Amino acid sequence: MTPELLTEADAGELLTVQRAAYLSEARAHRNFDLPPLVETVEQVRAALADPAWRVWGVRDGGRLIATVRLRVAGAVGEVARLAVAPDRQGEGLGSALLLAAEELAPAEVTRFRLFTGERSAGPLHVYAKLGYRETHRSPEADYQLIHLEKPRGRAPAAIR
Ligand SMILES: CC(C)(COP(=O)(O)OP(=O)(O)OC[C@H]1O[C@@H](n2cnc3c(N)ncnc32)[C@H](O)[C@@H]1OP(=O)(O)O)[C@@H](O)C(=O)NCCC(=O)NCCS
Repeated sequence: MTPELLTEADAGELLTVQRAAYLSEARAHRNFDLPPLVETVEQVRAALADPAWRVWGVRDGGRLIATVRLRVAGAVGEVARLAVAPDRQGEGLGSALLLAAEELAPAEVTRFRLFTGERSAGPLHVYAKLGYRETHRSPEADYQLIHLEKPRGRAPAAIR
């Protein structure tokens, strides 16, 4: 699993993977207006062109099958839009890509933050396994967003 930095030319493929992946989250939260679903290709292109964001992807035989974004805000690495193509979920790709993004983050990053919906059982399992701990919750529609944080270098639970 070797992540590559994605560029503006990858915007269409990225959006295709992202929309397919987040459909399960939309169904779980009965909210089909989730930002990863309503994001336009122009907005994805803008994120790919924005130097504040690092966007990685994983390809298999040329096909984009996973992606994640990281924004550096001082010592904090904000992780967003982790997505694995539906037919490739459960193979360890999401976990491996998130760990790779943490390793590839610039040296000034000392902790990582991300959030997910309270009904996101799969992502919450992955994040806990990789060392993320809940910091707080915030209201969103008729559910809560769970915010999680991890100090850089905390070992995943599985290999502790
Ligand atoms: C979340 C996501 C990125 C994980 O990627 P993945 O490649 O499927 O993840 P992995 O294969 O590395 O790990 C999946 C783990 O979650 C577990 N899991 C899957 N569904 C689960 C569920 N409903 N409840 C509890 N655990 C679950 C698997 O058993 C596996 O655990 P294990 O590693 O201990 O065996 C992927 O499922 C996805 O794209 N989901 C839709 C988008 C999304 O929700 N993104 C994150 C929201 S912020």
